[in-house]
Amino acid sequence: RFIFNFIEDKQWHYITDGLKVTLLVTFCAVIIGVVLGFLLAVVRATYDKTKRMKILNFICQVYITIIRGTPVVVQLLIIFYVIFSSVNIDKTIVAILAFGMNSSAYVAEIFRSGIMSIDNGQFEAGRSLGFNYRQTMLYIIMPQAFKNVLPALGNEFIVLLKETSVAGYIALQDLTKGGDIIRSRTFDAFMPLMAVALIYLVMVMIFTKLVSMLERRLRNSDH
Ligand code: ARG
Repeated sequence: RFIFNFIEDKQWHYITDGLKVTLLVTFCAVIIGVVLGFLLAVVRATYDKTKRMKILNFICQVYITIIRGTPVVVQLLIIFYVIFSSVNIDKTIVAILAFGMNSSAYVAEIFRSGIMSIDNGQFEAGRSLGFNYRQTMLYIIMPQAFKNVLPALGNEFIVLLKETSVAGYIALQDLTKGGDIIRSRTFDAFMPLMAVALIYLVMVMIFTKLVSMLERRLRNSDH
């Protein structure tokens, strides 16, 4: 009966449309997360190394603490029902903002640990070549740090992709919501939910493959 509904009633639209929303939200949120997370990490690492930017560092620390200390579902609901309560804003944008900001706090710590993992000697080497702090960071520390944090970043992307499945809390019709709508309309829970799970699984597997290919490539460029 599910197959019949799936094809005859064109229920599959819920899955394909939902998938598009999930991919769009994840893609945009990853960009926000990486850019914002990178900036946060630079501020934090600069304070650690040079004791400069004390106030900015404090603000970043508070931001990271609050974001990591509260569930992403609650953040999503607050952004939708409190911050944008009086404006008519696209739910997709709300989701992108919520997941992007949430991810940035985790990405910041990933980048920071990457920067900290580089031996101080590399830093001194840069400075003795006549590079200033900014150049040393950019040309010596960052390329090595990026290579070290790639597995952790890949992990973060996977978490983010799956985390967007809570977007249904603000009635955004993502992949998970799409499958759930089919469940409620066809009274068949098994097929739509298994289909949704399988699609997430395949996406994660493809992405994992891509990351390990990139990793191998970066490792080979070491020599
Ligand atoms: N689900 C947890 C939460 O609600 C963890 C979110 C983790 N997010 C991430 N981008 N690593 O906060």
